Amino acid sequence: MSTPANLVWHESLVSKKERQQRNNHQSAVLWFTGLSGSGKSSLSALLEKELFRLGVHTYRLDGDNIRHGLNSNLGFSPGDRTENIRRIGEVAKLMVDAGLITMTAFISPYRQDRDQVRSILEENEFIEIYVKCSLEECEKRDPKGLYKKARAGKIKGFTGIDAPYEEPVAPEITINTEMLSLEEAVQLIIKYLKDKNYIA
Ligand code: ADX
Repeated sequence: MSTPANLVWHESLVSKKERQQRNNHQSAVLWFTGLSGSGKSSLSALLEKELFRLGVHTYRLDGDNIRHGLNSNLGFSPGDRTENIRRIGEVAKLMVDAGLITMTAFISPYRQDRDQVRSILEENEFIEIYVKCSLEECEKRDPKGLYKKARAGKIKGFTGIDAPYEEPVAPEITINTEMLSLEEAVQLIIKYLKDKNYIA
């Protein structure tokens, strides 16, 4: 998008780097993507608890919650999903600026939308985490009973049923929630963050 006319960007007198130094860790977005029921919300929630316990400054944005507020005017058409992800990306970028390790848990089914968010962040600030789980298993779990409704034709355009999910091509991390427990997955992500010096 082009810059609107008559607007001037004001630099803050406190830089992102200074905030990160004070926090004693880097800031970045951990972008969880996957089918409904794959485990994005549970995994990111548990990860946040553990990071918080370790003294990391965090915040988490979650699909169902954000759609109650900031994005309450958006539905599930392809255009609305793209706008959903665009807004979340911009909010996540602000949080990275604020020095936080930010977690986002949205289906974010379109590769192009995820790549667009990656492109507005600096290199290494976008960590794509593919929460991998077969449609069969997600449907078996069906925690909100939505797959059942979608199969019965009561929800149209449901991801995985009659709307697409485009798998990440080269995610930084893949978590197969049919093979790993949530606790194991949390430890794997923490190890990644330590190995890459995001956190001490
Ligand atoms: S996204 O596609 O725009 O990234 P988002 O993560 O915000 O989706 O919201 C997904 C959640 O909305 C699902 O977990 C489910 O609870 C609910 N939902 C309602 N309708 C749909 C639909 N048609 N497709 C997918 N999820 C839906």
